[in-house]
Amino acid sequence: MNCVKRITDDLTWVGANDRRLSMFEGIYSVPYGVSYNSYLLIDDKTVLFDTVDKAVRQRFLENVGFVLSGRDLDYIVVQHVEPDHSAALSELTLLYPKLKIVCSDKTLGFLEQFFDFDIRSRAHIVKENDTLNTGRHELRFIMAPMVHWPEVMVTYDSTDKILFSADAFGCFGALNGAIFADEVDFAKYYMDEARRYYANIVGKYGTQVSTFLSKVSGFAVDMICPLHGFVWRKDMAGILSKYALWSSYEPEEYGVLIAYASVYGNTENAAEILACRLRERGLKTAMYDVSVTPASEIVSEAFRWSHIVFASTTYNAGIFVTMEALINDLTAHNIQNRTVAIIENGSWAPTSGGLIRGKLEQCKNISFVDAGLSLKSSLKSSQIQEVEYLADEIAASFPAAEINALAPAGGTAPSDAVDMTTMFKLTYGLFVLSARDGSKDNGCIINTVTQITEKPNRISIAVNKSNYTHDMILKTGVFNVSILSESVPFRVFEQFGFKSGRDTDKFVDSTYSDRSANGVRYIPEHVNGVISAKVADSFDYGTHTLFVSDVTQAFVLSGERSVTYQFYFDNIKPKPQPPKEKKTGYVCRICGYVYEGDVLPDDFICPLCKHGVDDFEKIL
Ligand code: FEO
Repeated sequence: MNCVKRITDDLTWVGANDRRLSMFEGIYSVPYGVSYNSYLLIDDKTVLFDTVDKAVRQRFLENVGFVLSGRDLDYIVVQHVEPDHSAALSELTLLYPKLKIVCSDKTLGFLEQFFDFDIRSRAHIVKENDTLNTGRHELRFIMAPMVHWPEVMVTYDSTDKILFSADAFGCFGALNGAIFADEVDFAKYYMDEARRYYANIVGKYGTQVSTFLSKVSGFAVDMICPLHGFVWRKDMAGILSKYALWSSYEPEEYGVLIAYASVYGNTENAAEILACRLRERGLKTAMYDVSVTPASEIVSEAFRWSHIVFASTTYNAGIFVTMEALINDLTAHNIQNRTVAIIENGSWAPTSGGLIRGKLEQCKNISFVDAGLSLKSSLKSSQIQEVEYLADEIAASFPAAEINALAPAGGTAPSDAVDMTTMFKLTYGLFVLSARDGSKDNGCIINTVTQITEKPNRISIAVNKSNYTHDMILKTGVFNVSILSESVPFRVFEQFGFKSGRDTDKFVDSTYSDRSANGVRYIPEHVNGVISAKVADSFDYGTHTLFVSDVTQAFVLSGERSVTYQFYFDNIKPKPQPPKEKKTGYVCRICGYVYEGDVLPDDFICPLCKHGVDDFEKIL
């Protein structure tokens, strides 16, 4: 039984829906199905615009026969050769022997590649701006190369002002009984699928889509009939503006897409914590596990959001498999104009960050957030400050108006809204906070030391409760602050920031044996001053305790400038580096250690995992 939809008095949709297809083009999941659109114009001449996929060929042929009601089919316009739109062509020529195939020269060549029947003798070749008069209607043909394939052509019916747009303005999703976009809540239920269709099908060809848009912008268009999805007859400005945006690779919305690959959940944990910190700063976030969510959905999201955080574990000395596939997909789709931050993880040699950066540097206009995060197996409490700074940096790259823009569309920020970027104008130093509990010395890195009053001389420090030093101060009420100066090397941060005093002695390997009058150790090198203090009061602020303390001793060690948080990230903290030129040598299959050299000695033992030469393979 036929199933058709009337579009105008003489134009009918004769396509079909497919809800059994699991992977469109073998790669794109279509959970809501897909429609294959074909349109039949009944005029003095009968004209069909494209056919359908072989999966729905039978219903389509029935639909065509029904609408023709015994008339012959005079023309088929082949706008796009891809088989989901041309599969029924040979059957049509058998059913309608006089059928003429209207197509471009390039289309004819492609059709001859796909089909074995005689096409050339039926071909009615058209060029840019050629017209075909069918009686009441005049059809004009416009070439739209690479929207999606090189042969793509669209047709403008100047009589009824209808644009048959081929793949342009298409959408995944079956039509479910409707035919016009205004019959459904398109923005709510279909816009994501329209974006996913655009990004994956034609996202790579933004320049060509822009050219197509400017070509057709001169036409008065009352209706758009694409090859997939709904027909547009109202509110076309919305979808047209989306196409203008997508084809320019400008983001649709300010917000942070976090895509993570995590083997044992530790990279995911860091990504989750960062997402929380970003939300607290008023930023929109969307998160995807790249091993679970199909790449096509994340590619689509990348076309939507302004910022992307890639968080990936290191795997086989490279990027984790699914993350690497995603990055390759994004670069293949020409992603550009985005701000990117990277979190890498690796238990012995984290390299994924630099490799991800190296790949994305090939894309246009990608800005990298300087602060990154490098994990050794898992995020430690000592690195929480790095997460905070990463969140700060991401937030700082947002326009102020986009911060706290979480209200639903149409809402306005309350007049007492807090613009978090204002907080970034405050300067923060970096300090080693040290304490002593009996024979145990410990220290950690903090960034919040403030003088509150001069008489009495009081300071406040905010300390994360997860730090062992916090517990020591809570117990003893005594501490030292060593004010770090600009010459401080990264190893000081590794020593006091990247380890926990609960399971290591942070002073054991150091030469820092000096103690102040309170008996607590301080750091004598790369420090311009030391303050000793005694807790006067403490305030519980959830994750942190604020200790208000009386200064008991203070002395200057050098005239060097204090290091600021910004200086640390600009000049001290190592940044993920793109991979260097390819090494020659051998790589350990067990741990990824690379031996550089042409010949691997027979008795060589991997310095990391202690495996022998049998476990090495040559780098090709
Ligand atoms: Fe549905 Fe490019 O075709």
